[in-house]
Amino acid sequence: MPTIDTQRLLEAAREAQAHAYAPYSHYPVGAALLTSEGQIFTGCNVENAVYPLGMCAERVAIFKAVSEGYRRFRAIMIVTRNGGSPCGSCRQVMREFAPDMLVYIADEAGHVRATTVAELLPDAFGPEDLSSS
Ligand code: THU
Repeated sequence: MPTIDTQRLLEAAREAQAHAYAPYSHYPVGAALLTSEGQIFTGCNVENAVYPLGMCAERVAIFKAVSEGYRRFRAIMIVTRNGGSPCGSCRQVMREFAPDMLVYIADEAGHVRATTVAELLPDAFGPEDLSSS
């Protein structure tokens, strides 16, 4: 398994962050998701005048990948101005497809910290819970 090019992921996440539609929170987020096959899918947050309809950058990237036939993920890079951590809903969606995925969290200065889905969402409910009786 080749090493993960975190700089490339950070560049892709920053490009996506520039497309964020965040007129209400003024908190642009970019994400870059690396599949096991080596493709990168990006996402940004997309808000709405009906506030609850907004969608996070991470889930946009994951849903884009899944909708194009990719379900195995190695890593995701998330960039915000202050290195904010992914929300609980995004953690659960990451858990669905990639319980062992690496999660890189970056700020605007380029500081990156690495964690995993398992660390971010311990003792999670997952697909297996629905199949065991
Ligand atoms: N947001 C994300 O895109 N990802 C996260 O993990 C945290 C929050 C977005 C949602 C909303 O558009 C804005 O950031 C403020 O919550």
